Amino acid sequence: MNEIKAVCGKDFPIIYRLDLTQALQASYGDQIFKKHFRGRERTVEEGLEFCCELAKAGVEGFDVDKGCYDNWFYPHPPAYFDDIPYVRDMAGTLKKYFQSKGINAQVIAVGKMSKPEAAARVLEENWADFVMLGRPLLADPHWPNKVREGRIREITHCIGDQEACIQSFIMGGHPCCAVNPYTGFEDTKKLEPARRGKKVAVIGGGPAGCEAAKTAFLRGHEVHLFEKEAALGGQLRLTINMPIKHDVKRYLENLQYQMDLLAEQGLKIEYNHEASPEELAGKYDVIICCSGLKGTIPPIEGLESIPHAEVRDFLRAGGELPPNAQKVTVIGGGLVGCEVAYTLASQREVEVTIVEKQADLMTGVVHANRAMMLWMLAGMGLHPIPLRMFCPGRCRPISARKL
Ligand SMILES: Cc1cc2nc3c(=O)[nH]c(=O)nc-3n(C[C@H](O)[C@H](O)[C@H](O)COP(=O)(O)O)c2cc1C
Ligand code: SF4
Repeated sequence: MNEIKAVCGKDFPIIYRLDLTQALQASYGDQIFKKHFRGRERTVEEGLEFCCELAKAGVEGFDVDKGCYDNWFYPHPPAYFDDIPYVRDMAGTLKKYFQSKGINAQVIAVGKMSKPEAAARVLEENWADFVMLGRPLLADPHWPNKVREGRIREITHCIGDQEACIQSFIMGGHPCCAVNPYTGFEDTKKLEPARRGKKVAVIGGGPAGCEAAKTAFLRGHEVHLFEKEAALGGQLRLTINMPIKHDVKRYLENLQYQMDLLAEQGLKIEYNHEASPEELAGKYDVIICCSGLKGTIPPIEGLESIPHAEVRDFLRAGGELPPNAQKVTVIGGGLVGCEVAYTLASQREVEVTIVEKQADLMTGVVHANRAMMLWMLAGMGLHPIPLRMFCPGRCRPISARKL
């Protein structure tokens, strides 16, 4: 601190970021904590003391979160967490501590404040002096202006997937955002007026179809968006009844609102209409197909003897199980399989087994989200759940007799 102040001047403001506690014991319980972390970590008490010393040394602002790489779902809260999962416990505790000690340093809160009401609450409750937004600004850099102008329903919300902002650069790619195609490409991707207006048909009103329709329309084309359901959102909509998908629900509500606004300006959206090649032929200069993927069921000997469904059909039918169902097998332990298995195991009186041909569940999913889902599947974080995982690590045919 002395070095920085000496070089930059006494009134040069310094903000220090730290996790107030690593929260390892709280995350994993006594046994794992002792075994894997030798019972050592930074506790909240130590974190407070550390901040006190730093404040004395001249730090003016403290940006505090929770956790470390071993529980990365805290510093990078995935979709599964509710809003502001630890602001009160971290920033709020530091703020109270500073007040009790008469320390004048500012406290900055961070972590899943995409919802403006959540950010406002942090300030109203006096848990912090400032709120800081990370991913919400990648999803929508106009967030502050939209809040200031009362255009809250127009915000494009972060969905907490971390596939584009974090995983893409972990994999050596370009950081970007799953819900905003301009993020990370601001200098190259621009919405410029088209040289010649065209008639454009977009088939399918999922996120990709909506983005394509919006882009073409804002560039001055005449756009006709066909959606076979009564609302926009495509296959993503199928997930929104699962409580752990609350971020997606919010994102889709705002997407629908944004598209309704464009419809008022002339973008033609036709609902409950499955477009056929015959009606499209010859009427458009461009047809953009965003109709989504179709699911498949692998060949399973004797499957017809067991009630079964492909996951999209299962969710489309409201996630209902046959009456008296006691045991459910989820085939495929990727992201969707694990999320559905978790939802069933935590909400219904059924025993759930996940069968995965690879040696691990959710391979390829960003570490923070995967770790949190495994943590929840192991019965931590929420209530214990009756779930079995079966990952033989090699591919072999499944027989219905075994199910
Ligand atoms: C692309 C990306 C890069 C980040 N890099 C850092 C970093 O280098 N150091 C750090 O302390 N936090 C980093 N973070 C964490 C954020 O500062 C923030 O604490 C976290 O995303 C939670 O806040 P949010 O819910 O507002 O995104 C990064 C987050 C993202 C999405
Ligand atoms: S990629 Fe996903 S988690 Fe990251 S900012 Fe965009 S919506 Fe949020």
